Amino acid sequence: MNGMYSRTLVPPVIPPHPLSPSGSWLKGFPLRSFLELGAYRNAPGSARGHARNVLAEWGLEQFTDAVILLVSEMITNSLAATEKVAWEAGLPPVRLWMLGGPGAGGTGEVLLVVWDAVAVLPEMGNAGTEDESGRGLGIVHWLSGRQWDCYLPPAPHGGKVTRALLDSPWRDQPPD
Ligand SMILES: Nc1ncnc2c1ncn2[C@@H]1O[C@H](COP(=O)(O)OP(=O)(O)O)[C@@H](O)[C@H]1O
Ligand SMILES: [Mg+2]
Repeated sequence: MNGMYSRTLVPPVIPPHPLSPSGSWLKGFPLRSFLELGAYRNAPGSARGHARNVLAEWGLEQFTDAVILLVSEMITNSLAATEKVAWEAGLPPVRLWMLGGPGAGGTGEVLLVVWDAVAVLPEMGNAGTEDESGRGLGIVHWLSGRQWDCYLPPAPHGGKVTRALLDSPWRDQPPD
């Protein structure tokens, strides 16, 4: 069981992707921000306020509604997973990086990177029309146009990263 959790906290650098150790996927995002959240019930509210402020600072306000939906779902999932982790020093935090850039068309894009201490990859459920849970990753999938994934950063980072790209504020069509 212990192997599923990162045991120690490393400095807040974006955890490297095992298949892209040089971090080439971070190119094209000159705008960066970082927020560390205590794994408490109200943390999604802090993350939403932070996201709103950062996007205003970057002049990317058109992404606010979509980013806030994504941040809410991603942080809520990481908090739920983290609640089950017992570190000697208490609950590990959840970390949010927001990255911004011009995007291919120059109209802006936002990359969200969320780390939690649980080294288990989530599985997208198949929520029925009556279900009240199991929709979060579907929302991430839709809003990002399938441009999201998860990875397990190597030691000493541990845990898992979920990342999602918004290369346009809204999508008219759900992805396949
Ligand atoms: N950060 C995460 N860490 C571990 N498991 C996760 C994480 N995010 C999602 N999951 C798993 O994937 C499932 C589906 O997530 P989601 O679509 O957001 O639905 P819900 O959160 O309502 O269950 C969750 O129930 C959980 O089991
Ligand atoms: Mg969820």
